[in-house]
Amino acid sequence: GLKKKEIHVLCLGLDNSGKTTIINKLKPANAQSQDIVPTIGFSIEKFKTSSLSFTVFDMSGQGRYRNLWEHYYKEGQAIIFVIDSSDKLRMVVAKEELETLLNHADIKHRRIPVLFFANKMDLRDSLSSVKVSQLLCLENIKDKPWHICASDGLKGEGLQEGVDWLQDQIQ
Ligand code: GTP
Ligand code: MG
Repeated sequence: GLKKKEIHVLCLGLDNSGKTTIINKLKPANAQSQDIVPTIGFSIEKFKTSSLSFTVFDMSGQGRYRNLWEHYYKEGQAIIFVIDSSDKLRMVVAKEELETLLNHADIKHRRIPVLFFANKMDLRDSLSSVKVSQLLCLENIKDKPWHICASDGLKGEGLQEGVDWLQDQIQ
């Protein structure tokens, strides 16, 4: 059949935000892992949508590994940035990491799409995607298309909406 267009995606965000859980859920059921552990360094994952074949660099969000992120920026054609919307204490850390990312020389002047997942929306004390967007000052992103979805990485809610948006940006 037709070969799908291949796209390299960087999956970034703080440790414990749910990056690996989300990427795992986007894979076909028979390829999903049952138990997910904190990522060491990074992991390369693949999944497909109707028209695209995604290669994801699922980076560790732990502080000691965050300096690895920038080595993959040049290769990234899209970014998925995951936020734990119940982690109010570290929202400012997520904001700082996002600013550092968006100001990096390999990202700054490129119109690459950025998809945000305000993840863990199932938790009682989680913030809405609107609130997360305000705390991260997403309205200040003027030079890149971006979109935020509330998500539940465990159940998979919100993921399709996000990936559909990403696919539309890349076509
Ligand atoms: P690092 O690899 O360390 O950067 O973390 P990560 O961002 O990949 O997080 P991971 O996917 O390992 O998930 C961290 C924890 O959050 C796990 O216990 C997941 O089961 C849990 N988790 C992920 N998504 C959700 C969600 O939407 N809701 C809830 N309640 N828990 C979630
Ligand atoms: Mg991980």
